[in-house]
Amino acid sequence: MLISPSILSADFANLQAELDRVANADWAHVDVMDNHFVPNLTLGAPVVEALAKVSPIPIDAHLMIDDPDRWAPQYAEVGARSVTFHIEAAADPVKLARTLRAEGARASMALKPGTAFAPYEDLLPELDMVLVMTVEPGFGGQSFMADQMPKVRQVREAVRRSGGEIWVQVDGGVSAATIEQCAEAGADVFVAGSAVYGAASAADAVAELRALVAKHSHT
Ligand code: DX5
Ligand code: ZN
Repeated sequence: MLISPSILSADFANLQAELDRVANADWAHVDVMDNHFVPNLTLGAPVVEALAKVSPIPIDAHLMIDDPDRWAPQYAEVGARSVTFHIEAAADPVKLARTLRAEGARASMALKPGTAFAPYEDLLPELDMVLVMTVEPGFGGQSFMADQMPKVRQVREAVRRSGGEIWVQVDGGVSAATIEQCAEAGADVFVAGSAVYGAASAADAVAELRALVAKHSHT
């Protein structure tokens, strides 16, 4: 069970200090948005490179960008240890996942709420993680979509059948109120932005989320 705070809700003027606030988490989730795949713009590879150098925990890059075939590998090159591309935007996901792994990163595929998993199940052997979005990508602080839980179950079942060590991540509206249903459905990596950075103590919020999912296990 891994907790990955999203720095989208952090103070962008003080990102090194904001990463240090969540040093008790497992990963640092960095949302890259290009104003095309989603209607919001955040940061790119130079900033990810700088963050990877100072972060106390590895960087989990979530790329909400068009043409990941062209742009995603550079995030692995600059030090993101996990790189997630959106399947809706990928032209050749097998080639892309292999390139990411060759660069030494974990390769991960994300699904928007309206995207079914079944057509992509065959990709599992190429992947280290599947991200099931629990909000429409683009912004922090949105309401959790409980209607995505059947998809989380479906992915978890497929991962079990595949026998691979593939993580199942949820991202969007994850909080103390919603994290347990995600764990129950089969998620094992939990992204939380506003629930962590909106708390008085980000580290305490991470610890609370961790305690809530500790009793669930998918092995
Ligand atoms: C949304 C991003 C999320 C966002 C989650 O497009 O992918 O990572 O930061 O924020 P919360 O946890 O506030 O929903
Ligand atoms: Zn994200």
